[in-house]
Amino acid sequence: MKVTSSFLLGAIGLQRLAAALTIAEINGNKFLSPYSGQTVTNVTGLLVAKGPNGVWIRSTTPDDDPTTSEAIYVFGSVGANVTVGDIISLDGKVTEYRAQTTYLYLTEITSPKNVKVISSGNTVTPLVIGKDTPSPPTKAFSGLDGGDIYNLPGGVANLSVVNPVLKPKEYGLDFWESLSGELVTVRKPTAIQRPNNYRDTWVYGDWAVTGKNKHGGLTMSADDSNPEVIIIGTPLDGTKNPTTTKMGDQFEDVTGIVQNAFGFYNILPLTALKTSSSVAATAGATTLKTTKDCRGLTVGDYNVENLAPNSAHLPKIAAHIIDYLKTPDLIFIQEIQDGSGPTDDGVVSANATLSALTASIESLSGVSYAFASVDPANNLDGGQPGGNIRQAYLYRPEVVTLYKPNQGSGSDATVVQAGPKLSFNPGRIEPDNEAWAASRKPIAAAWVAKGSKKPFFTVNVHFSSKGGGTSLHGDVRPPLNGAVAKRMLQANVTATFIAGILRQRPKAKVIAAGDFNEFSFVGPMKTFTSVSGMVDLDEAAKIPVLERYTYAYDMNAQALDHMYVSPELAKSKSTKYEHLHVNSWAASADMVSDHDPSVALFDVCDC
Ligand SMILES: *[C@@H]1O[C@H](CO)[C@@H](O)[C@H](O)[C@H]1NC(C)=O
Ligand SMILES: *[C@@H]1O[C@H](CO)[C@@H](O)[C@H](O)[C@H]1NC(C)=O
Ligand SMILES: *[C@@H]1O[C@H](CO)[C@@H](O)[C@H](O)[C@H]1NC(C)=O
Ligand SMILES: *[C@@H]1O[C@H](CO)[C@@H](O)[C@H](O)[C@H]1NC(C)=O
Ligand SMILES: *[C@@H]1O[C@H](CO)[C@@H](O)[C@H](O)[C@H]1NC(C)=O
Repeated sequence: MKVTSSFLLGAIGLQRLAAALTIAEINGNKFLSPYSGQTVTNVTGLLVAKGPNGVWIRSTTPDDDPTTSEAIYVFGSVGANVTVGDIISLDGKVTEYRAQTTYLYLTEITSPKNVKVISSGNTVTPLVIGKDTPSPPTKAFSGLDGGDIYNLPGGVANLSVVNPVLKPKEYGLDFWESLSGELVTVRKPTAIQRPNNYRDTWVYGDWAVTGKNKHGGLTMSADDSNPEVIIIGTPLDGTKNPTTTKMGDQFEDVTGIVQNAFGFYNILPLTALKTSSSVAATAGATTLKTTKDCRGLTVGDYNVENLAPNSAHLPKIAAHIIDYLKTPDLIFIQEIQDGSGPTDDGVVSANATLSALTASIESLSGVSYAFASVDPANNLDGGQPGGNIRQAYLYRPEVVTLYKPNQGSGSDATVVQAGPKLSFNPGRIEPDNEAWAASRKPIAAAWVAKGSKKPFFTVNVHFSSKGGGTSLHGDVRPPLNGAVAKRMLQANVTATFIAGILRQRPKAKVIAAGDFNEFSFVGPMKTFTSVSGMVDLDEAAKIPVLERYTYAYDMNAQALDHMYVSPELAKSKSTKYEHLHVNSWAASADMVSDHDPSVALFDVCDC
């Protein structure tokens, strides 16, 4: 059993040098070691793994306390002859290390000295997660998140300041911290998504998980962002993890060291992941069919990721629109760059980009699209420098046309006029509002579909991205949701505009869609629905909660892209919605954009 900490505190001083501490005592039962900065002598452990810059040792005198890790990283050379299976003792300095101030610390022993091999050839047995250890908690990351990692404001506490006693059964970060430095086995790992650029791969093992979608990934939902998922990082033997894996793929059992690095808990595998089975990446095409008039208008939404006229992925986007979206009557597009792409030369017109995209669709399918958009002012809307990304609509003029068109310029604010109708159509919403500084202004439009006389309305958005946020595994609690204050303002401005349409005509048919860069259950989107009176189409169309995703990021399948509809469309039996996982399921080489497209079906006839 572990010696009580009050005894230990009393013992610090000359006693400390004489009485060797166990590894559990060095780690303590919190995130930070009670001995940080102090020299320790005769620390004894079984060498369980070697890395390029150090070794991991496991206590030969473990305690019964599940909060104290029995293993620790020794950073620095312990001598070339020391090998896995040796029981060694050493002196060194207890150090808390992190590369950035928003990361959690790693407790380690640095500058090892007086390394002695006590015995060799001992058996090294990894702990099987979920069998030799409890299973990881599936919902909460930290007791400092106030019950929800998306609580606002974020950053009210730091784990390294509060340094709470670990509760490994309740909180994911506490669970992984309680195993820091341990050699563990993950049985039957399943990939959450494609690996990152370093080939690090997020997985869950054969333990109980929540949020599993039909493809085998884990979908984020309110209060559940999947702390049971862990990254398999850089292999310790110099081999490399595969690059071709994707959501739902299975690996052979993997054994490695639990280590906090680069802002996340990792398992550093002894050797590279090996794929054991691979799921099909092909998403099905939409099943929704247009009636080619107002009774059944198909409406697509697709963030096409920095599309320029000469983008290599332009023909692939065209093929997606044809093969998977089935050339919808109206498409909301985001991230159309100007005709010179990222070249910063003052060009703002996207005519060349939209002409190239529609020409590509026409050459591959014979379907001819018209387009509508508003050019921004140069370099004022954020995104890739020089690219001037903006939203645009593609539409099939034989089915749907602009209602009383009156092209707005980048500085014109379209307003809702009696009718209702729009003063500029298409036009930007409050382009001078500070909510849109360095971000994309929404593009509103009014349309009339074949067979109807009254307009329906659309708002195509691309809110500020989450850049600047902190890791869900980080020190800052709740984690910082990058630019959330900006999105809060943007949601309100957009919603206030839509509320103006619905005030005039409560039965108006309104569709707001695009890349909101936010989850439906987080502050900005709650503001959006409450101020506008719009309904989340995922709710209206009863999409199962775990199938609501358009993006794969870190440990989650998640929804950044949404459609919201006015009450008249929300209650209509004709309304349908589908997310097409052509990109979130794909391996890196097969990705065409970082977002999935969606398709909906609406009756937009007069009512
Ligand atoms: C070092 O630790 C080992 C095992 O805990 C113990 O047997 C040994 O007596 C210690 N040596 C010294 C010099 O304290
Ligand atoms: C390593 O082991 C070899 C063979 O046992 C021995 O000759 C050598 O002196 C050892 N080196 C060190 C640094 O202990
Ligand atoms: C958390 O840590 C960061 C980085 O050191 C610091 O800027 C911030 O003020 C801290 N916040 C709290 C609430 O301690
Ligand atoms: C738009 O681009 C197309 C194709 O490059 C070109 O034919 C057309 O003249 C351009 N229109 C304008 C208004 O620049
Ligand atoms: C939305 O903006 C209006 C006008 O600035 C403000 O009065 C209102 O409180 C805001 N609502 C929310 C929910 O932020």
